[in-house]
Amino acid sequence: MHADIVVLPGDGIGPEIVAATLPVLEAVASRYGHAFSFAEHDIGGVAIDRHGEPLPAATLEAARRADAVLLGAVGGPKWSDPNAKVRPEQGLLAIRKALGLFANLRPVRPHAAALGASPIKSELLQGVDIMVVRELTGGIYFGDKTRSETEATDLCRYSVVEIERVVRSAAALARARRGHLTSVDKANVLETSRLWRDVTTRVMRDEFPDVTLEHQLVDSMAMHLLSKPRAYDVIVTENMFGDILTDEASMLAGSLGLLASASLGSGKVGIYEPIHGSAPDIAGKGIANPYATILSAAMLLRHSLGLEAEAAAVEAAVSSALDAKVFTADLAAAGQGVDTRTAAQAVVDRLA
Ligand code: NAD
Ligand code: IPM
Ligand code: MN
Repeated sequence: MHADIVVLPGDGIGPEIVAATLPVLEAVASRYGHAFSFAEHDIGGVAIDRHGEPLPAATLEAARRADAVLLGAVGGPKWSDPNAKVRPEQGLLAIRKALGLFANLRPVRPHAAALGASPIKSELLQGVDIMVVRELTGGIYFGDKTRSETEATDLCRYSVVEIERVVRSAAALARARRGHLTSVDKANVLETSRLWRDVTTRVMRDEFPDVTLEHQLVDSMAMHLLSKPRAYDVIVTENMFGDILTDEASMLAGSLGLLASASLGSGKVGIYEPIHGSAPDIAGKGIANPYATILSAAMLLRHSLGLEAEAAAVEAAVSSALDAKVFTADLAAAGQGVDTRTAAQAVVDRLA
């Protein structure tokens, strides 16, 4: 098949991890007889510097026309002045919203060879396989904001339709997995969470009676996630809770540099990006872990291009590289670790 992939490297380690991932997609194309074309565009801080805005119209237009978007990361100290008029992160939020990407799939599957990198006891991690579905275009991220000399506000707002559609996405995934859905909210305090709980209960009762539903409050969920991670199958939650819980969950896998994501809507185009950020502390050193971005490319193959065998081959190649202890510094023993390109090449070699 032929596919047009828009590539948005962004800031910090973004260009490094994306440059390491494109050869993996090239290797898939040549092994399976596909043709992928890559068109690079600006987003985030680099777009502010070049065009004065974090999401230039040309970037959004290209993304709309593409089959899929591969994104690195945005943001960094250069653009982080709290009084700045424009911010890199606004570009990322705007493209998710504009493309209607309401369901952000973040799989958490600790790999046997990397268990030693996790601060959690290995026996708790065996067999952990969680899919977090984070609502991505609503909640406190997108409500009205105000700021005066003396106070500031961020409005958290959810509509029934916004909750229904993301719960349906999560429940469909649960149905194809182990048949269990955990909905995370703060219904003991927040009105939006009480709506979330009501709607979720109704959708599951009426449309997914075969999927078991459990409600969890977000604070105790943060604890259970580390103390009994095997108890979870699919977790669905609102935008900010999902953001925070998945960075926490990355410690089950051993590094933020291992967690991939797919941002999906009702159309074909999705954005595929690691869950981590631009990692300013290691940017420019060539040592970032590329596996999260490579695994995001696998999700791109699966969800936007329908290439399941190819996606599984990329995942198997990453697993095999991890089995061979091809570790970047975040996974390796102190003072050790291969560079970004070496890790990515190990994946390419296994696909050849
Ligand atoms: P971060 O995810 O960038 O980094 C947190 C820690 O994890 C750092 O120590 C970093 O070195 C490490 N890390 C992250 N990815 C890694 C990788 N692939 N390999 C090895 N180590 C890795 O979070 P932060 O420092 O809080 O944020 C930095 C900037 O990134 C901010 O501007 C933030 O807004 C932005 N950000 C962007 C995205 C995105 O583009 N999707 C996501 C999160 C944060
Ligand atoms: C993520 C990031 C973004 C988010 C920021 C950079 C806007 O943390 O993709 O997880 O909060 O969604
Ligand atoms: Mn985040």
